[in-house]
Amino acid sequence: MSRPLTASEPLVAARAEPVLEVVDVVKRYGRREALRGVSLTASRGERVAVIGPNGAGKTTLLSILAGDQKPDEGRISRSPSEIGWVPQQSALYGKLTVAENLRLFARLERRPDVQATVERMLDQTDLRDRAGDQVGQLSGGNRQRVNIAIGLLSAPAVLLLDEPSAALDPRQRQRLWEFIAGLADEGTTVIFSTHNVQEAERHAHQLVVLADGERLFGGSPAELEAAVGASGDFEAAFVSFLHDRGH
Ligand SMILES: Nc1ncnc2c1ncn2[C@@H]1O[C@H](COP(=O)(O)OP(=O)(O)O)[C@@H](O)[C@H]1O
Ligand SMILES: [Mg+2]
Repeated sequence: MSRPLTASEPLVAARAEPVLEVVDVVKRYGRREALRGVSLTASRGERVAVIGPNGAGKTTLLSILAGDQKPDEGRISRSPSEIGWVPQQSALYGKLTVAENLRLFARLERRPDVQATVERMLDQTDLRDRAGDQVGQLSGGNRQRVNIAIGLLSAPAVLLLDEPSAALDPRQRQRLWEFIAGLADEGTTVIFSTHNVQEAERHAHQLVVLADGERLFGGSPAELEAAVGASGDFEAAFVSFLHDRGH
């Protein structure tokens, strides 16, 4: 049962192999609870969207999984060293070329074979033609690919992307989602955040809805549609869904 999944084929939980389990994660900033006991389970090759309005706790959740912050409570089944991280704010050096940036990050990550890693990254993210270009001169879409390449340096089982489509135009967005689908089809579990519900529905197998640090829903796009009761304007129905639950 290990044939690749396609976008049109939803993952069946019973068949899928769990690669990440997050149980009851709590994060407090002073008296404010940014995450109030959030859980999720992700399978191999699954695309999971963490959806919610600004301040919902999406970045907090992803940065905890990435090991950038410690949770106050809860359990995470996998070490951050096995999880790749593509933060919203990139840490690229605009004056260095694509290949130079990749080489630098490969050294920082202490990859055993820096050159082989850089070559794999250039191929995997389709950046070979851009290898000698200064990062500062790249389009937003290509800069995003360099960020993703860095997230993939250690060939992680799970890749996290924080609002990956936010700064992209529609064509770049399309290429991003195709790339993410290809990565997941090859077995990487991809967890991304977005505040765009329709985009999440279109590109994820599993949706996790957060609002004010609380997990309001977890399930497939079809299950969310059923829960939201959308007829016509899904976005509006989703806003009412949040509103009805006090958000
Ligand atoms: N370093 C921090 N210190 C204090 N509060 C924070 C910090 N980071 C996030 N928060 C708060 O935690 C909540 C969740 O933030 P965040 O995870 O960034 O939400 P999202 O990514 O969904 O917009 C917000 O109320 C935010 O103000
Ligand atoms: Mg955020």
